[in-house]
Amino acid sequence: MKRWTSWLRISAAVIALVSVSVPTQAAENSINLQDPGNDIHDKASLRNGAKLYMNHCASCHAGKYMRFERVARDLEFSEQEINSLMRYGVTKVTESIKSAMTQEAGEMAFGVAPPDLSLEANYRGKKWLYTYLMTFTRDKSSTTGYNNGVMPNVAMPWVLAGYQASLEGQTNSWNQKKMLATKAGTLDSLEPEPQSFAMEMRDLTNFMVYMAEPIRPFRERFGKYVLFFLLVLLLPVWMLKKEYWKDIH
Ligand code: HEC
Repeated sequence: MKRWTSWLRISAAVIALVSVSVPTQAAENSINLQDPGNDIHDKASLRNGAKLYMNHCASCHAGKYMRFERVARDLEFSEQEINSLMRYGVTKVTESIKSAMTQEAGEMAFGVAPPDLSLEANYRGKKWLYTYLMTFTRDKSSTTGYNNGVMPNVAMPWVLAGYQASLEGQTNSWNQKKMLATKAGTLDSLEPEPQSFAMEMRDLTNFMVYMAEPIRPFRERFGKYVLFFLLVLLLPVWMLKKEYWKDIH
């Protein structure tokens, strides 16, 4: 009986501890994380993401586990295309993504060195990453002039500000044209919708998800074949079992 009551007391203490720690966690994640809706089997999206990463991120962020050779093979880049993506002192396709910035230069410039992003998508999760890219907003009180929804007071300057503004401008003017064309009944002759900033960030997140685990698209495809094979195997195995048990009964 005594033992029973002490167990009860321990459980009550555990429950109390858990209920105290839950609200603080909820406060940290108060912003809603958005799903990028990416597809790691979509090569066009991954290729676009790779270009975005190389053009806008690799100057500061290395991807030390990702070799250009592998990117070219997996995402079907031609030799010429992959050569034009290789930057910042990379001379051979067997080398990995390097940044133009040393640790010390990064610390001097931003107070924190830009981290290697090879495994970032696994470390933070793809929703966090996508939301991070989608929630830079103007903030005059910060050193960079911007703030971020999931990483308050982030030291990273918003390097895509100009790009974002230009794409949002294109999307807005397309929407206006669409409205006019709908009224005039000439929707058929409307040019295709431009790729929005959100779609660009979906592709960039997609590439970073691939970079964190390049074997994943293959594993997922292969997994389907394995399941199919096991399903087909089930029939002869089941028949064999019936055959064996016939003699035992
Ligand atoms: C001019 C340099 C620079 C460029 C270019 C840059 N970043 Fe950053 N980035 C930083 C710095 C510095 C930090 C560290 C911020 C901090 O810890 O407050 C950072 C942090 C991050 C983080 C958060 C890392 C973590 O988990 O703590 C992510 C994600 C990120 N950058 C993604 C990107 C992407 C994607 C691009 C390309 C669109 C990019 N960055 C371009 C400087 C840069």
